[in-house]
Amino acid sequence: MKLQLAPSILSCDPSQFRPSVKQMLDGGCDWLHFDVMDGQFVPPITFGADLVKSLRDLDSTPFEAHLMTETPEAHFAQFVEAGCQRVIFHVEATPHAHRLCQMLHDMDVQAGVAINPATSVNALEPLIGLIDMALVMTVNPGWGGQSLIESCLDKVRRLRELAPALDIEVDGGIDPNTVGRAWEAGANVFVTGSFLMKASSIASGMEQLRSACSSKS
Ligand code: DX5
Ligand code: ZN
Repeated sequence: MKLQLAPSILSCDPSQFRPSVKQMLDGGCDWLHFDVMDGQFVPPITFGADLVKSLRDLDSTPFEAHLMTETPEAHFAQFVEAGCQRVIFHVEATPHAHRLCQMLHDMDVQAGVAINPATSVNALEPLIGLIDMALVMTVNPGWGGQSLIESCLDKVRRLRELAPALDIEVDGGIDPNTVGRAWEAGANVFVTGSFLMKASSIASGMEQLRSACSSKS
């Protein structure tokens, strides 16, 4: 599987979103990850599709919206129109995950489905073959800067057995000390927020993540 980096802007200084995103793009990220929180599914509120739209002119790197929202389907069209190539919703937020994936495919974007730490891989199993990516949360959603929950990597391992060719993303607590274990467990798409803000530069932080995995492949 190809290793892909999907930096999140969640931990950026909001007054610096544009220059920070430019550094992520110039550093060669594979996706840009937008953490959308509605104050309902998770306590914080972040931003909406207007922010995505305001950054879309920077280059053509694909954007993904991670919707930590209730009724995620109510927001699909806005994020697709704003320029996202993939929309990720939480399986816990809907009884109709299969139909929501079909809705995204009808909008010509990739469908990603996320599971929280307390949700079993079983919830994803019927969707394998339909989804373009599975997001296994490695922290409880809502905040950057938390520590990776190791037991979530067991779920990554199980999902990789079930779906050898599926893109599996992990999100939360990814840094050079944890990324190698997540890669060995079978994840191949890595979201990182706070680590990149602490690195000496965003580009060097991304390089550290790549090399931590290459020593294990
Ligand atoms: C958490 C978000 C993450 C978050 C990751 O709810 O989904 O994308 O930004 O941040 P770090 O890398 O700081 O754990
Ligand atoms: Zn996220």
